[in-house]
Amino acid sequence: MEDKTKIIEAFSEMAPRYEQVVDSELNRFWGWSYYGFVNLIIASTPIEPQDIILDVATGTGVIPSLLEKAGHPRNQIHGLDITMSMLMRAKGRSGDQNSHANQNLVCASAMEMPYANSGFSQVICGLATHHMDVKELILESYRILRSGGKLTIGDVGGSNIWKFPGVKFLLRIIAFSYFFLVENKSRAWAEASAVSNVLSKDDWSRVLMNCGFRNIVIQKLKSRFFWVPAPLLIKAEK
Ligand SMILES: C[S@@+](CC[C@H](N)C(=O)[O-])C[C@H]1O[C@@H](n2cnc3c(N)ncnc32)[C@H](O)[C@@H]1O
Repeated sequence: MEDKTKIIEAFSEMAPRYEQVVDSELNRFWGWSYYGFVNLIIASTPIEPQDIILDVATGTGVIPSLLEKAGHPRNQIHGLDITMSMLMRAKGRSGDQNSHANQNLVCASAMEMPYANSGFSQVICGLATHHMDVKELILESYRILRSGGKLTIGDVGGSNIWKFPGVKFLLRIIAFSYFFLVENKSRAWAEASAVSNVLSKDDWSRVLMNCGFRNIVIQKLKSRFFWVPAPLLIKAEK
């Protein structure tokens, strides 16, 4: 099965219980609550009232709704995701089917975003880069950001030893077995294929720099166990 299909299948199944599942996983592995983590991403995003924001891989639209609650105009907040069932839950948040919140949600791949060049001043991406080809995602983010626009990412980080094929293979087996036991087969496939997309701090710096970003700041966040890959908070500017 193609990776994209596995991802859509996994998140379609998880959509009705998404926040609960992620909250318990982040607590178990990192000691973070789901809302604690996404709120940290938002707090680290230097938002101005006139900013046009894209939340890439918005899922059930939690980040846009928190931005709106924080007072940012909803018509300036956009969300994109590849899984329609996740977006349907995001649409359900606003209640009004014709609201700006719904008009600004798009079902598409972040590898080919249906937006013009330089249209956004902020791109945010929470807990999702490991499901994508990171270089393609960063190139697309660069393209749609205007000059001086900011990118903020919060996601799991890897270590430099993950590059070795033997280590990668072992991690894929561990990821598959764990998610197969506690979740289901589609989630297990999605998380096992995500292993190759989990980058170390050094890799993130290199990819961002090679794609043209500057003022790159990458912070390793607290994690409950030393042996579990810790979350990274990544900020950069076009
Ligand atoms: C763990 S969820 C994160 C959702 C949201 N950002 C949050 O913080 O709750 C990962 C999301 O990435 C989306 N996704 C995975 N690959 C994608 C792609 N290529 N393009 C757009 N969205 C993608 C999935 O559909 C899923 O909704």
